[in-house]
Amino acid sequence: MDGLRQRIIQAVHNQPQPTVTILSSLLAVEDELGYIPKEAVEEVAALTNSTINDVWAVASFYPNFRFQPPCAHSVEVCWGPSCHLVGAMPVIQAVLEAVGLEDEGDTPDGEISLRYNTCLGACALAPVMSIDHHLAGRVSPEAARIRVAQLRGRPGPGAPSGS
Ligand code: FES
Repeated sequence: MDGLRQRIIQAVHNQPQPTVTILSSLLAVEDELGYIPKEAVEEVAALTNSTINDVWAVASFYPNFRFQPPCAHSVEVCWGPSCHLVGAMPVIQAVLEAVGLEDEGDTPDGEISLRYNTCLGACALAPVMSIDHHLAGRVSPEAARIRVAQLRGRPGPGAPSGS
């Protein structure tokens, strides 16, 4: 069995909550891998006694699931109400310029996946962004631009150690 499938099986079988559903299983895989590969759809279908189509229906309903591996680095910028009020939009603009994208998505060089988020759970620190799953609060557009620019060429958190 390949390593990818093994990680999927571990993720879906080690869910701590008592009720396991298609959605909870997909979330467990997304947490583990950062995306939902087709092998995960097969494993979740088997685990939950569902069809492949049932699992795809749930997965495709939620826009936050991605079906391709993420880029080396993930950047999220919050544009929820608290962040919006204190300058999320200039931060987003600065990040878009720094990564060379016009909207959220993946950079063509595979370096950065950019997403907007409706609340990163740290409203008191608004405006907030997350870089490789580490929160940064009270970010200025300039600080955001510098942090994101520094990511290019660095190994991402999922890279094998020593690279
Ligand atoms: S609204 Fe931005 S962290 Fe909550």
